[in-house]
Amino acid sequence: MASLTTPLSQVHSLSSSKPSLRLPSPSLPLQFRRKPSPPMPMKAVVLVSATAAAETSNKKRYPGESKGFVEEMRFVAMKLHTRDQAKEGEKPVTEPEEKPVAKWEPTVDGYLKFLVDSKLVYDTLEKIIDEAPYPSYAEFRNTGLERSASLAKDLEWFKEQGYTIPEPSSPGRTYSEYLVELSQKDPQAFICHFYNIYFAHSAGGRMIGRKVAEMLLNKKELEFYKWDGDLSQLLQNVRDKLNKVAEEWTREEKNHCLEETEKSFKFSGEILRLILS
Ligand code: HEM
Repeated sequence: MASLTTPLSQVHSLSSSKPSLRLPSPSLPLQFRRKPSPPMPMKAVVLVSATAAAETSNKKRYPGESKGFVEEMRFVAMKLHTRDQAKEGEKPVTEPEEKPVAKWEPTVDGYLKFLVDSKLVYDTLEKIIDEAPYPSYAEFRNTGLERSASLAKDLEWFKEQGYTIPEPSSPGRTYSEYLVELSQKDPQAFICHFYNIYFAHSAGGRMIGRKVAEMLLNKKELEFYKWDGDLSQLLQNVRDKLNKVAEEWTREEKNHCLEETEKSFKFSGEILRLILS
């Protein structure tokens, strides 16, 4: 079965990929967890079929499923946090940006690189949603979560303070190119990134913004961390739309979307790491 680390090009050639899952089993849809088993005696076959039938009728087969697909995406995402980042997190710390934010030693230059690369990613996402190569993307126009314009204001502010705004660097450029490619050929995987980027920013991203502003910017609150209107309501509206779009997906398409979460963390982690450069 495809693993969370399977390259995109191999995601559909399931038989050829070896499982290399790092997530604990409860975070994964059931079929990702089963190992091939030897032939079973008849009684066992009956028992297993009965269990499978019960599972089919039980709407809670996938963690979060009964609350809607966003809850399933959230469940997988939360497991990919470290314990320090979030209490539901389970991932061991392996990268510098996964250390507790309180122990970070950020620099203004690094933070500027992070803002510039983040802007490129939001510009790209917002253009894709605007052009909507798949009609379902149009649901996500003007949600109020857009960040491109607010980041433009922040970069202008840094310029006024005398900073030189760098060009986008490799992590932002690579992620943007990947998003464009995905948006045209793999809408379920694209939606996974859409969800993770906007919702991560509204949660951990805000906390990071606050801490870094304390450390580097004399507590100046950037526009990146301000939304017009009630943020929790804006997020809820987007959750409702995501759930509605995912209702049209098959179970396989949903699983494919969930599998993409790890890539989303990898790309975003590389952009976050710029803060520490
Ligand atoms: C230093 C890095 C990070 C920190 C400190 C952090 C922290 C957090 C925290 C505290 C929450 C809220 C948990 C709760 O609701 O109880 C959260 C939620 C979340 N994070 Fe992160 N996170 C980080 C990186 C990321 C990354 C890289 C992604 C994916 C790109 C991500 C995706 C999410 C998502 C999807 C949620 C759920 C938001 C919601 O339910 O509305 N996070 N994070």
